[in-house]
Amino acid sequence: MKRIAILASGSGSNAEKIMEHFQNSTKAQIALVASNKADAFVLQRAEKFKVPTFTFTKKEMDAGVLLEKLQKEQINWVVLAGFLLKIPEELIRAFPDHMVNIHPALLPKYGGKGMYGHHVHEAVKAAGEKETGITIHLVNENYDEGKIIFQASTPLSPEDSPEDIAQKVHALEHRHFPEVIESLL
Ligand code: GAR
Repeated sequence: MKRIAILASGSGSNAEKIMEHFQNSTKAQIALVASNKADAFVLQRAEKFKVPTFTFTKKEMDAGVLLEKLQKEQINWVVLAGFLLKIPEELIRAFPDHMVNIHPALLPKYGGKGMYGHHVHEAVKAAGEKETGITIHLVNENYDEGKIIFQASTPLSPEDSPEDIAQKVHALEHRHFPEVIESLL
């Protein structure tokens, strides 16, 4: 049984889909939901699924507190689901090819520093893109540049607002992320 930790900073709708997916799995268990925000809604979602939670500050993460917790919990896979802090290199190195991130655009487009959540959808709108999508990739030291595991796209119409784009992207994420994680295990 693989032990997965989800790191999330916000609402956690992806985390919820992942917890749902692995609820009765014999392959893997969501062993921890960890957040750098003590009031993140993802923590309430985790409680609903009786998944243990852990909160930490950026300073603590940078000092190795999160890594220590993941090791103590014997975590095999780390899933970033809307986690907005840069991961310390030491932490990335502790999970070689076992840390996966979801990005709400078709990388290499709309990646890099500052490109998260609604900023991405606003940039996609401003560029008049005819499509957008999701990218699921392994995490290496250069954030959005790890090996791409999966991409899916969705058409956009000129009338789509950044909120409409976000909705389309979330739908794709919810449909694919849990299964892609399972395929990696
Ligand atoms: C998701 O759309 C995810 O792709 C994005 O944050 C959202 C979190 O939504 N991640 C990034 O922008 C990372 N660069 P959720 O909290 O409802 O799962």
